[in-house]
Amino acid sequence: MNYQVVIPAAGQGKRMNAGKNKQFIKLQSIPVIIHTLRVFEKDPHCSGIILVINKDEQEEFEKLLATYNIQKVTSLVHGGSERQHSVYNGLQNVRNSEIVLVHDGARPFVKVEFIHKLVKAAVENGAAILAVPVKDTIKRASIDLHVNETVERSGLWAVQTPQAFHVSVLTAAHEQARREQYLGTDEASLVERLPRQVTIVEGDYLNIKLTTQDDLLFAEAILKNWKS
Ligand code: CTP
Ligand code: MG
Repeated sequence: MNYQVVIPAAGQGKRMNAGKNKQFIKLQSIPVIIHTLRVFEKDPHCSGIILVINKDEQEEFEKLLATYNIQKVTSLVHGGSERQHSVYNGLQNVRNSEIVLVHDGARPFVKVEFIHKLVKAAVENGAAILAVPVKDTIKRASIDLHVNETVERSGLWAVQTPQAFHVSVLTAAHEQARREQYLGTDEASLVERLPRQVTIVEGDYLNIKLTTQDDLLFAEAILKNWKS
């Protein structure tokens, strides 16, 4: 089944502290956003990419798309103040597709086999997310750092992107969140509130999001062993 993907890349990258949007940081001489776009460019099931960007970075993004010959971007859309607003803007530009994926521009190491598993689950269930079991022991603590409890680890999942949906499901979830002024940290949290069941597809630990400087060290190590 074919799909379209909304890629939010309109953040500031504040926690990365690189003095620019982290999408433009180079890994093995190639910008992060190009690594991410290439995954979908190469996937024959991806019929279009909606790239969400900052208005004042449009020229830079257009240059990169031309330089690296990225052909599948059907729309360059301007983002909003929060990730959720950026995704909403992108979603308005999905055309002729039953399935939409949302995938962070800052998550360049997703494997196509997981994308296909995810799409299959979304076709069957309406909503599916990629996640991995939590490996660490998790504790809840008060603001003054006293432990309140150790959270039972079984059943805890660290959630990634892509997240995949029937377009009608994600649209309904976003419209409801707007009406209720709810801001979530991922798309699935909006869908859960519909309410509607969300299915987990188990991914791998290499699909990291580049958030802080340390992640760039991991990213270089992942790329060294990357086969695509
Ligand atoms: N994003 C976006 N629009 C926003 C905020 C984030 O499109 N208003 C995008 C980012 O560009 C990134 C993805 O959403 O690809 C995940 O967000 P995050 O990792 O938080 O990136 P930033 O918001 O850029 O980073 P920070 O929170 O550290 O400023
Ligand atoms: Mg952010």
